[in-house]
Amino acid sequence: MVVLDRPRVVSGERIVARCRELARVSEEDGRLTRRYATPAMARANTLVGSWMREAGMTARLDVGGNLVGRRPGTSVLAGTLLLGSHLDTVRDAGAFDGPLGVVTAIDLVRRLREEGVVLPFAIDVLGFADEEGLRFGTAYLGSRAVAGTFDARLLDVTDDAGVTVREALARFGGDPAGAVDGGASRRGERLLGYVEVHMEQGPVLERRGAAVGVVSGIAGATRAEVRFAGQAGHAGTVPMALRRDCAPAVAELVLAAEALARGTDGLLATVGQLAVEPGAPNVVPGAATAFLDVRHEDDAVRCAAVERLRTRAAEIASARSLEIAWDTRLDNPAVAMDPALTGRLARAAPGAPSLPSGAGHDGVAIAALCPIAMLFVRCEHGLSHHPDESVAPDDAQAAVDVLHAFVTELAAELEQDV
Ligand code: HGY
Ligand code: MN
Ligand code: MN
Repeated sequence: MVVLDRPRVVSGERIVARCRELARVSEEDGRLTRRYATPAMARANTLVGSWMREAGMTARLDVGGNLVGRRPGTSVLAGTLLLGSHLDTVRDAGAFDGPLGVVTAIDLVRRLREEGVVLPFAIDVLGFADEEGLRFGTAYLGSRAVAGTFDARLLDVTDDAGVTVREALARFGGDPAGAVDGGASRRGERLLGYVEVHMEQGPVLERRGAAVGVVSGIAGATRAEVRFAGQAGHAGTVPMALRRDCAPAVAELVLAAEALARGTDGLLATVGQLAVEPGAPNVVPGAATAFLDVRHEDDAVRCAAVERLRTRAAEIASARSLEIAWDTRLDNPAVAMDPALTGRLARAAPGAPSLPSGAGHDGVAIAALCPIAMLFVRCEHGLSHHPDESVAPDDAQAAVDVLHAFVTELAAELEQDV
């Protein structure tokens, strides 16, 4: 009797379709923006939670506001493998930055169920709630809660409507006190590691003709809110020599950041968010705020660059008789991937190139909890943080195939031990 090969489970199409379906869950009409602990995020958790349940998992919200899907294993001694990525987005985002990793992990669990695979270890799929930090200028609020590194001071950070993290999380159904004292933390559990699938957000895999790549490390990042304060006044009456105008000050800082990065190999400096106040064409800005983002693979280079820009900002303020406030919101050292876990991932993705990540990921926070590894997926033209970002179904399929091979090898090894 000729036994036909089982039809290749083409989940790549489903993964891409679900990412695009999820992208319609937004706070804004006409574009995708989904911030931490918002009604849109709650709707996203409901939709993704339904996919988790359909794959045979339980789904719950943890105290930090993360969505947690669970597929139990047969042996508590075998521990838990953490998979997933983030469900929050930047403003005017694309469909794949974050959700690709969550949806791919869910599809792996669905496939294991279809194949009747029983594993000794549990699989948790995490939908992290705040990787981008768009609402509060933070990052990793959700993954810090899971890692047990959530700093209580973060609870008092406010969004642009004056709502604190504490209020937002409580309204969302989380537990601010629990987020801080470890209610969401997995510390003390037997964790086999955290493996995140994420779109590359760069052009390397496309140029190498590779569907997937194994991440070697995550660049360090510093994010600071810099605020100049001067004197508002009438645009038609205040003489130029008497002005304490904050707009030129923040412009000087933006140009200084660009010049420093252009002149330093591997340094990236960005001011992606700018504001002048009160914000009227005929009013001299009495205040101006810039969010500075500085990155480099080498922490010493990044920290030296941040210090130089902080000094330059103070010089600009002094020369213009302005006050200045520098609020460091994020200061993450570069994070190396776990060699053993990454080696296992590389074996599951034969021939996949190894490449660093300039972008930050929840693994930066989770690395404090357990070993981490990441698999990058090719994306069209390397475009990301843009509504046109795109991942091909075949490449999503390649990613779920790698996860399947990874889990299969891990299970075989653990079954010998248990
Ligand atoms: O900014 C980053 O690197 C990530 O997208 N949050
Ligand atoms: Mn991301
Ligand atoms: Mn992102």
